[in-house]
Amino acid sequence: MRTLIRGGTVVNSGGGFAADVLVDGETIAAVAAPGLFTEADRVIDAAGKYVLPGGIDAHTHMEMPFGGTSSSDTFGTGTTAAAWGGTTTIIDFAVQAKGTSLLATMDKWHEKAGGHCAVDYSFHMIVSDVNDTTLKEMESCVAAGVNSFKMFMAYPGVFYATDGEILRAMQKARETGSMIMMHAENGIAIDQLVAQALADGRTDPVHHGLTRPPELEGEATHRAIKLAAVTGAPLYIVHLSSRHALEAVTAARDTGQNVFAETCPQYLFLSIEDMAREGFEGAKFVCSPPLRPADHQLDLWRGLRTNDLSVVSTDHCPFCFKDQKVLGLGDFSKIPNGMPGVEHRMDLLHQGVVRGEISLSRWVEISSTTPARMFGLYPRKGVIAPGSDADIVVYDPAATQVLSAATHHMNVDYSAYEGMELVGKVDAVLSRGALVIADGAFHGHEGHGKFLERDLCQYLR
Ligand code: URP
Ligand code: ZN
Ligand code: ZN
Ligand code: ZN
Repeated sequence: MRTLIRGGTVVNSGGGFAADVLVDGETIAAVAAPGLFTEADRVIDAAGKYVLPGGIDAHTHMEMPFGGTSSSDTFGTGTTAAAWGGTTTIIDFAVQAKGTSLLATMDKWHEKAGGHCAVDYSFHMIVSDVNDTTLKEMESCVAAGVNSFKMFMAYPGVFYATDGEILRAMQKARETGSMIMMHAENGIAIDQLVAQALADGRTDPVHHGLTRPPELEGEATHRAIKLAAVTGAPLYIVHLSSRHALEAVTAARDTGQNVFAETCPQYLFLSIEDMAREGFEGAKFVCSPPLRPADHQLDLWRGLRTNDLSVVSTDHCPFCFKDQKVLGLGDFSKIPNGMPGVEHRMDLLHQGVVRGEISLSRWVEISSTTPARMFGLYPRKGVIAPGSDADIVVYDPAATQVLSAATHHMNVDYSAYEGMELVGKVDAVLSRGALVIADGAFHGHEGHGKFLERDLCQYLR
């Protein structure tokens, strides 16, 4: 099967240029001067459109157990929604429960995801039980192509790791060349603020945000960076939300340390004001770290320009409002943490291009190329080039759309961006050569997506 994508502007992280793209089977066969190829089994007209490498969302939580419930997208529904939005690879977090082994956890996630994904997928491991066995198992995970390990400085009693445990895991990461990913919030201090708020009767959703101040994200980020410096481990700060944390990352990068960070669309477009909405509406916006005062957004956009923020992932972790978020009525600490977003990352970031916050090529870099290089998928993913997987998005920069739960494809009963008008829309999507989105319809199938074994991070010095 040969597909010719004709007449578009190919946009890679290095820039955009007029070219036709010839796909043969699952891979890109040629990127050629317009008009050079004429024969193909299928021709897609991309005139006036961008031809982009498929998006890579390096931070999702499908079917994730949390607070007695489970995130509402399955691997099937979540990866289908991802495809609709031009994301053709997700990296999901396999969650080690305390007292269980890392390898059994990985098997469990393979069982959940295998045969169900509409686009390609990989895993990071969440390490919640640091002991001699777990540390040894990290070596086997790396050998199996899962070489990134998330740890938590938040959520005492659940995922929380002590500084000593983090240090030991970082030493193992250094030894194996793998990456430590950090949820950097000082959970011990936060839990005191939460208990005080609840005792005072401050139980509304906004208090989730007020009890997790940015100073405690900045402090934990700084501490994680110093632990990484002592051990020599590479460090990737996940879901960075505040200028306080960004300052710590920037300072570390200025010294040449292997420290990287991602932010998420919710921190670029929403604010603590959303968590303070009337009634219990604010629960829709409860995630950790929390949404910040809107002035942090300017710093995050700047961080994206200066590369102190290298990646934008969604932290997609949807919980339905009607039967899941309501678990926290009268007690914000019981609201399941997380927001839906896997479908709209590419579109939301495109608004950054429209507004002049980032360039066209930077949009591609932060949403596809850098995640590919960061997590050992490049050049198989993250670039439109001969030999790369034919994960391709045909994007119409002039189309408009209005985000709504009534029209999105994520399995969740609300949109965090309800009514938001966007410029730009996905026109067609190929996943390894298979046309999965075209003419406003999904043509893929759950089970098409393959598990990706990953190489080590390609940015390490
Ligand atoms: O609130 C969030 N971010 N939920 C997902 C779990 C995590 O910490 O990434
Ligand atoms: Zn986290
Ligand atoms: Zn997360
Ligand atoms: Zn297929």
